[in-house]
Amino acid sequence: MREFIYYSRTAPTSGGYVKQDLMKSGRLDIAIHSVIAALFLSHKMRDDVKLHLVFAGAPDPTKHLELQPVVEGKTGVDKIYLNKSNVENIIKRMLYKHKPGEKNEVFPGYWIEKKGFLEVVKELYAKDRNIYILDDKGQDLREVNIEKNPIFILGDHIGLPSKEFKRLKQMCTPVSIGKKTYFASHTIAVVNNEIDRREERGEL
Ligand SMILES: C[S@@+](CC[C@H](N)C(=O)[O-])C[C@H]1O[C@@H](n2cnc3c(N)ncnc32)[C@H](O)[C@@H]1O
Repeated sequence: MREFIYYSRTAPTSGGYVKQDLMKSGRLDIAIHSVIAALFLSHKMRDDVKLHLVFAGAPDPTKHLELQPVVEGKTGVDKIYLNKSNVENIIKRMLYKHKPGEKNEVFPGYWIEKKGFLEVVKELYAKDRNIYILDDKGQDLREVNIEKNPIFILGDHIGLPSKEFKRLKQMCTPVSIGKKTYFASHTIAVVNNEIDRREERGEL
């Protein structure tokens, strides 16, 4: 299982703050593109990816949304129907269903809780997980030794906040997909492909 953590300093933390224009809803459009890049293959959902969305926008930061959709079983009973056009609605419903003091499973494989960005990372680090920060100044992804069940952290349209970035560098290895700055969703697609290829070659 590979994991991605997408951090957004502006994405809304309540369903009521999701507006029709997603670019004006704290750049929720980027989070949605990241969901699609992380969890979808053509005609198939991935069963090897967990995505964490950490939203620190108004009105009630910070929310940690964890998505590892159940892909087997009957739709509407064991799993929900997620497609490219209803991601926004699913995220909005998750935000509405936050329960104070709880990690609430809103749909099978979709959880929401109140938790800070560093706290999310530190919990995974404490479990001895191998964590990588996606950063254009990092080591070349194609040349880095990636351990099993890797976790990759990505920033929003501005990048990762500098204070958190310094702290993260003590726990994670910075890796780059090249010198150009890509969209977060494009970066996820490239990483997914690299991990797929290594698995196909039996290297992971
Ligand atoms: C749109 S970019 C952020 C742009 C921001 N101005 C910056 O310089 O970080 C969103 C995220 O995608 C990832 N990213 C973009 N280009 C990358 C690259 N060449 N290598 C690794 N990660 C990259 C980073 O995690 C970045 O925070």
